[in-house]
Amino acid sequence: MSIWIAGTGSATPSLSVPNSEMTKFGDTSDEWITTATGIKERRVLSQDETLQGLVDKAAERALEAAGVVPKEVDLCIVATIAGDTLVPSTSSNVKRALHMERAVNFDLNMACSGFMYALWTAQSLMLANNFATAVVIGAEQLSRMTDWGDRSTFVLFGDAAAGCVLKNDMAGSGVLDINAKRGIIASDIRSHYDDTLCLQVSGLTTPTPFVDGEDLPHVVKMNGRAVFKFATAIMQEHIESVTKKAGMTIDDIDYFIPHQANQRIVAHVAKVLGIPMEKMFLNVHKYGNTSAASVPLALDEFMRSGNARAGQNLLMVAFGGGLSSASCVVKV
Ligand code: COA
Repeated sequence: MSIWIAGTGSATPSLSVPNSEMTKFGDTSDEWITTATGIKERRVLSQDETLQGLVDKAAERALEAAGVVPKEVDLCIVATIAGDTLVPSTSSNVKRALHMERAVNFDLNMACSGFMYALWTAQSLMLANNFATAVVIGAEQLSRMTDWGDRSTFVLFGDAAAGCVLKNDMAGSGVLDINAKRGIIASDIRSHYDDTLCLQVSGLTTPTPFVDGEDLPHVVKMNGRAVFKFATAIMQEHIESVTKKAGMTIDDIDYFIPHQANQRIVAHVAKVLGIPMEKMFLNVHKYGNTSAASVPLALDEFMRSGNARAGQNLLMVAFGGGLSSASCVVKV
């Protein structure tokens, strides 16, 4: 228990788009969206906002909450499939913007499970390299990668950035602090090849003098029912396996911070496992599915809510395109 969450932060676009506005783009209704997903509104980047701006703000807020100055940061990972620039990476841009001078940085692509993969990667790298401090952010602008003519996807997604600062109790001494009262206790990371949720990279299909091609739209394609089935089964598996790995039972978990894709998925899992819905932290009604930003956005909101207490056991669990899935138990 040596890597712990020292602070969280998030940033969302200022424009909130309620379900009633969605009817402008296709044959849908507030009633259908609410019943099928639990989503009531989502935040969408507008003309004068950028994803990078959200990433910089989320990182700044997490650092402030942790009481860490940027020059102390050893590692910065941004999980995203949708940075404003591919090169420099989103993590390079935030490193420069916040002056995290000595940070090793890179981006990580694992779709909606990205933040959880980044957390696990950061934990591993901190232990392997004796890093004291890391910034881990999940950020996505799926509004720019959504087919606004496909009602089965455009109602689901939103834009956001969120993340945390990790600290290492072991750094410097090389000795695990066995008295540590907080930290990431267990993780479970999985990938399952499946193409029920895909995103083509349009630029890579552009013809060259050597290769035929056509510009394909850069939009998410998804078999919603298949993903729903996968999500409910895999979340259940993760909750059972990661609590066991942590030496706990499901009852030992104070709050669950699930990927916020669909309230019905969370409710189904809660019912099957006998978890009271009050223990499932949900904010999908306000933001929709913000992909890699989803779990940290919920975590940040939980940590700043009246429900957070030192010593609580939280279980974070995500699933996403790839298909991928990940979970961890953390004592805060
Ligand atoms: N508004 C109104 N009707 C819609 C609609 C919309 N936005 N989207 C789909 N429908 C219609 C369908 O066309 C279908 O109509 P039909 O019965 O006449 O053919 C009907 O609603 C039911 O469609 P279905 O796809 O079976 O709905 P569903 O209950 O499975 O809900 C999702 C669809 C996408 C909300 C749900 O499958 C889901 O959440 N899947 C998981 C998606 C996910 O989590 N993705 C992210 C992974 S990280």
